[in-house]
Amino acid sequence: MTGTSTGTSELEALQSELLAEIATAQDLAQLEAVRVKVTGKKGPIAQQMSKLATLPAEERKAFGAANNAVKAVVTQSLEARRADLEEAALEARLAHERADVTLPVRPGPEALGRIHPVSQVFDECVEIFADLGFDVAEGPDIETDEMNFGKLNIPAEHPARQEHDTFYFPPKPDGSRLLLRTHTSPVQIRTMQNRRPPIRIIAPGRVYRCDSDQTHTPMFHQIEGLVIDETTHMGHLKWVLEEFCKAFFEVSDVKMRFRASHFPFTEPSMEVDIGAEAIGKPGQWLEILGCGMVHPNVLINCGLDPEKYQGFAFGMGLDRLTMLKYGVPDLRAFFSADLRWLRHYGFSVLDTPTLGGGLSG
Ligand code: DAH
Repeated sequence: MTGTSTGTSELEALQSELLAEIATAQDLAQLEAVRVKVTGKKGPIAQQMSKLATLPAEERKAFGAANNAVKAVVTQSLEARRADLEEAALEARLAHERADVTLPVRPGPEALGRIHPVSQVFDECVEIFADLGFDVAEGPDIETDEMNFGKLNIPAEHPARQEHDTFYFPPKPDGSRLLLRTHTSPVQIRTMQNRRPPIRIIAPGRVYRCDSDQTHTPMFHQIEGLVIDETTHMGHLKWVLEEFCKAFFEVSDVKMRFRASHFPFTEPSMEVDIGAEAIGKPGQWLEILGCGMVHPNVLINCGLDPEKYQGFAFGMGLDRLTMLKYGVPDLRAFFSADLRWLRHYGFSVLDTPTLGGGLSG
């Protein structure tokens, strides 16, 4: 009996010793160290258990049970201490990491980045024309000869082809050639082929011409417009362009001059100048776009009956519009990827152009 009672009191002492040790653990790392030491294979509990074999058979059961009880109490205590420490760690983190939601937003990468002026003008145009009921249409940069010229009433050998300084791809075995589109006008064709009037679209995008000097770059941007309906006339064309110019240059009035011109895909054709007072330079006229009533041949080429349908089209250079509106002197700077230039002329990513909130912020 003596052995058992000695064993029991030894176990009791061990239990209180271990519980005291658990209680001293000040954080989760310390507690883990205690757990490994106490419950490990060579730890005190395991050592006690190993005495079992040396005891007389009648004492083993009671001793084993007592030892298991100690183990259970110690394990429970470890878990309780872990829960307490975890909660304390969370409390400490919450107290430490408190966020003051009343602070102003810190400038992050979004606020540092800049929108390229051409992209800005692109978005401004889309906003203005969307308000007038136009959709945005798109076409590929690589076009067929037929789309870029043929269907637009510019047959082979037409002098207008020379003016376009086209980048051609090598001819295919059947003799046809792909090219980089020289204007956004082929999107007119694609649109008329794919949907029925009434049509009201703009098509902004990249265009390419083999030309490079101070005022020409081999890639530049245009925005095309097309309206087709049964009663569309030149009055509509002039009104749309006037509304566009007022909204774009953010002025209440703009002087416009329509000069007779020639494009194979319109008849009559006009070039449009605006009075430069709109951009703070009174006394000058600035050419900004070409336009006209869609040529009947173009309608026929797209399967539309010119007796029933008519409409207008226009095309303008986005880069030129950007230079005029934002006073950029050199076209080549648009494509020089100079960060200092972009920081100066660029626009905040967070200021989306809207008619209500102001186009240019
Ligand atoms: N495609 C012409 C060019 O690149 C611009 C143009 C003129 C487009 C008159 C039109 C238009 O839609 O009606 O020079």
